[in-house]
Amino acid sequence: MAKITELQVNGARCPIEADEATPLLVVLRDQLGLTGAKYGCGEGQCGACTVLLDSNPRHSCNTPVGKAAGHSITTIEGLAANGRLHPLQQAFLDSGAFQCAYCTSGMILTAAALLRVNPHPSEDEVRRFMNGNVCRCGTYPRIVEAILGAAETMAKNKS
Ligand code: FES
Ligand code: FES
Repeated sequence: MAKITELQVNGARCPIEADEATPLLVVLRDQLGLTGAKYGCGEGQCGACTVLLDSNPRHSCNTPVGKAAGHSITTIEGLAANGRLHPLQQAFLDSGAFQCAYCTSGMILTAAALLRVNPHPSEDEVRRFMNGNVCRCGTYPRIVEAILGAAETMAKNKS
């Protein structure tokens, strides 16, 4: 089995050592110390492990690290820029869009992917796009509120 020795994570080249079939989540958490992505179901069903691969949301629990090598990976730790939280992170805080927060990094990264392709989503579009991300604490209404709020903020920041 081929070994993977480097990943591009949050804009940096990160040396690693893993068999190509190792789940990306395991490498991020255990070798790179990026523990924002969480292990939930381990089967691609809950979204807690979501990261961005070339700006697209992917379940890192069932993505082999060999498939992620050579692509740009973004984790929640890489979303803030210039010492400022991403508008989605700020909106989740402002809306109190979590209780235990186990789902939060996956929610925020999935939402970031949504706002990249659809900067002005309707509430229905948000709900549909976020459908694969499960919040066991049931904070869905606040999560939707936060995403719509972040979309507004990002639109204002651009104007
Ligand atoms: S832990 Fe990856 S989708 Fe649930
Ligand atoms: S805030 Fe607990 S799972 Fe979503």
